[in-house]
Amino acid sequence: MDKIILRGGNRLEGEMRVSGAKNAALPLIAASLLAEDPMHFTNVPHLQDVTTIIELLGQVGARVIVGERMKVEVDATAIHSVRAPYELVKTMRASILVLGPLLARYGEAEVSLPGGCAIGTRPVNLHLKGLEAMGAEIRVEEGYIKARAPRLQGTRFFFDQASVTGTENLMMAATLAEGTTVLENAAREPEVADLGECLNRMGARISGIGTDELVIEGVSRLGGVEHRILPDRIEAGTYMAAAALTRGDATVKGARPGHVESVVEKLREMGAEVTLGGDWIRVRMDDRPSPANLRTQPYPGLPTDMQAQLMVLNVLAHGSATVTETVFENRFMHVQELRRMGAEIELTGNAAMVRGVERLTGAPVMATDLRASASLVLAGLVAEGESSVERIYHIDRGYERIEEKLALLGADVRRVPA
Ligand code: UD1
Repeated sequence: MDKIILRGGNRLEGEMRVSGAKNAALPLIAASLLAEDPMHFTNVPHLQDVTTIIELLGQVGARVIVGERMKVEVDATAIHSVRAPYELVKTMRASILVLGPLLARYGEAEVSLPGGCAIGTRPVNLHLKGLEAMGAEIRVEEGYIKARAPRLQGTRFFFDQASVTGTENLMMAATLAEGTTVLENAAREPEVADLGECLNRMGARISGIGTDELVIEGVSRLGGVEHRILPDRIEAGTYMAAAALTRGDATVKGARPGHVESVVEKLREMGAEVTLGGDWIRVRMDDRPSPANLRTQPYPGLPTDMQAQLMVLNVLAHGSATVTETVFENRFMHVQELRRMGAEIELTGNAAMVRGVERLTGAPVMATDLRASASLVLAGLVAEGESSVERIYHIDRGYERIEEKLALLGADVRRVPA
């Protein structure tokens, strides 16, 4: 298992280019199961989670061709199975995204129930409840969700809690249902909107894209289109936070500034100078950060996927701040590891009280989940001496060539086989 070794102290300077969004690529590739012609995707990020969903589509019988520069063609016109096996689902919860499309197009699906994961119980009850409301018969047997529905029926469904993949699953399923489906309190994340726009180009009739009420008029077939995956706002935000943390001056290119507004606002509150262009964001910081309270929220609020990275700025701030996690329970796995580097953080329930310290010291630390590991890499960029971040496979699930991109900005970082 590889690890990342960092020597802290270098300012990040220069330019980096953001990759395609993992959380957009996963549902879009799953949506290929709905199409009666091949789908073509460009700007697909080269990440472990993307490999997993491609493998999953391969398992059910789709033909997937990964071309140059991660152009991906998915031909799911002749599949031979509707089963997503435990071996793949256990490595990536987002595998649940094939449930809606398989059921809508083939009338049945068997998807392994995802297990618990490091950042809370993360149930899929809303996915199932929504599909049941559309007339599906669902049983859980031998660890598998077994769903059947000759033809899904349009319905009105209210999400008790806004769910990103839940909204995506039901939106995909509803495109081929009979009649109209209304999804209330739907997730508004840009990745949900990107999926909706792609589905409409495939022939779906979805209105309300980008709002919390989606109205989906079912159609009888969807065709194939070419779609460019939107830039990854969390990757962009992570590098923006890294630039500020190292008191650097870096520009993130190929981004959508409109998608990171809440992060920009926080970085400014912390003292960074942020300049926005059409598709770039420049972050410059000269001083120690000012403390800023953080509270995660569904989009357009502050993303839970940025909580760990922004917390590191508070760790080094001149003062104290509270970080409140409202989206997931138990998403503070990075706290123990940051403490090993000298951070002063106290946890009470879903809140972390961070008392800023002047410096962190390098230490061997362990990645526990994707964004937690990103925060440890960030801390390593500023800690005195050497840090090593182990279990780096978590990072590879969501960040493309992180060590190369950081090194290009001047960080002292390398990957070594453990
Ligand atoms: C997606 C993102 C993930 C991000 C998260 C929140 C993908 C592939 N992953 O995850 O990176 O951190 O959104 O922005 O897009 N919930 C239920 N029942 C359900 C579904 C969800 O109670 O059936 C709860 C969850 O436990 C959580 C909250 O709803 O507390 C939001 O989760 P959700 O939006 O579903 O997260 P994911 O779609 O899994």
